[in-house]
Amino acid sequence: MNVLVIGGGGREHAIIRKLKESKKIAALFCAPGNGGIAKDATCVNIGACDIDGMVAFAKKVSIDFAVVAPDDPLCLGMVDALEAAGVKCFGPNKAAAVIEGSKVFSKNLMKQYGIPTAGYEVFDDPQEALSYIKRQNTYPAVIKADGLALGKGVVIAQNEEEAADAVHSIMEDKIFGASGNKVVVEEFLTGPEVSVLCFTDGYTVKPMVSSMDHKRVGDGDTGPNTGGMGTIAPNPYYTPEVAKACMDLIFLPTVQAMNQEGRPFKGCLYFGLMLTPKGPKVIEYNCRFGDPETQVVLPLLKTDLFEIFQAVQEERLARLDVEWHDGCAACVVMASGGYPKKYQTGLPISGLDEDGQAPGVTVYHAGTKLDGGQVLTAGGRVLGVTAVGNTLDEALQKAYAGVESIHFDGVHYRKDIGRK
Ligand code: AMP
Ligand code: GLY
Repeated sequence: MNVLVIGGGGREHAIIRKLKESKKIAALFCAPGNGGIAKDATCVNIGACDIDGMVAFAKKVSIDFAVVAPDDPLCLGMVDALEAAGVKCFGPNKAAAVIEGSKVFSKNLMKQYGIPTAGYEVFDDPQEALSYIKRQNTYPAVIKADGLALGKGVVIAQNEEEAADAVHSIMEDKIFGASGNKVVVEEFLTGPEVSVLCFTDGYTVKPMVSSMDHKRVGDGDTGPNTGGMGTIAPNPYYTPEVAKACMDLIFLPTVQAMNQEGRPFKGCLYFGLMLTPKGPKVIEYNCRFGDPETQVVLPLLKTDLFEIFQAVQEERLARLDVEWHDGCAACVVMASGGYPKKYQTGLPISGLDEDGQAPGVTVYHAGTKLDGGQVLTAGGRVLGVTAVGNTLDEALQKAYAGVESIHFDGVHYRKDIGRK
């Protein structure tokens, strides 16, 4: 099989390194990929959202199967276009990807089908949104842009002034473009957060090992939100009892609701959950693998990932055993100085071998490029250094030892991944 993975970050690198273990794959391509992915697959310089370019390339090299990993191409209909061209795909079509693409859609879906989530109201007028927040007069207030916003569309406002700023910049200044035409104003929930990625073919749901992201830039969950500064798996808060409740009250009802809506979901459905005092509630749905959750979940997968992708695509997931290794994984993200604000790129990275790896860990490249033989920084999140161990402590110790052996100017990373 000729397989194409679409995307170019740490998540795609983790998918590719797992697919490399499959005996069914003859050639592995990635578009656009990055400096580390180039060591494991043939990178092709086509933007992840360039639908016409992708279809033309898939035809030219006879791609049999494509994995569409990021949210934007999924929401734009990349799967629909590739399937129309005869390429089998792992990932939801445009109609199903709306579960991530529109928070108004997903909140209304949960309300209609009784799936536990934070209470909310939707507004398309900034004045009405603000007067509602003022009337409620309970802070923190949670304000969310309706559409995709690079993971930055959520504001937790601590007072009226911050709420007014958020509504103004999302709905009037349109800092996220048309994604801010509507906002969701939501009840503030508390409790540990859990990410659960599930394989689903629209009939069967097979949850992966649970994980925990660390979204804030600073130790002790301080500073602004990022795309994710590190992850651990499994998530210690996700007990078998919680898992059962989530399956019965959230996972299966969501998949069934999407069927009812005529939008069957096939691919990886990501549940961002909060374990509140009143039980687990959905914070967000993503229509794809999480980043950097994938970097700790897939190293624990025993079953051939490509066989799972095929089973999902052919709607026979019920008959496939998906098996996991015991033990734990930890991923520490090494970021560019200044990230998530302005940062410099093009800096040389030292401590990597000729495969872009380091001893004792797997180095997933997120924002890197190759310049001759040298790996350079090329993004905010640069590397996700992952290790597995029998215990969480062992995995963390190995991951941090790996981090300390790698360097670039200005590098920063959290020192407290997995310590909560
Ligand atoms: P999201 O981009 O939807 O994942 O939201 C980013 C982060 O904001 C989440 O990981 C939570 O920590 C926080 N968050 C989102 N919605 C709520 C809520 N209703 N209550 C409390 N925190 C929230
Ligand atoms: N790590 C959060 C996400 O992938 O959206």
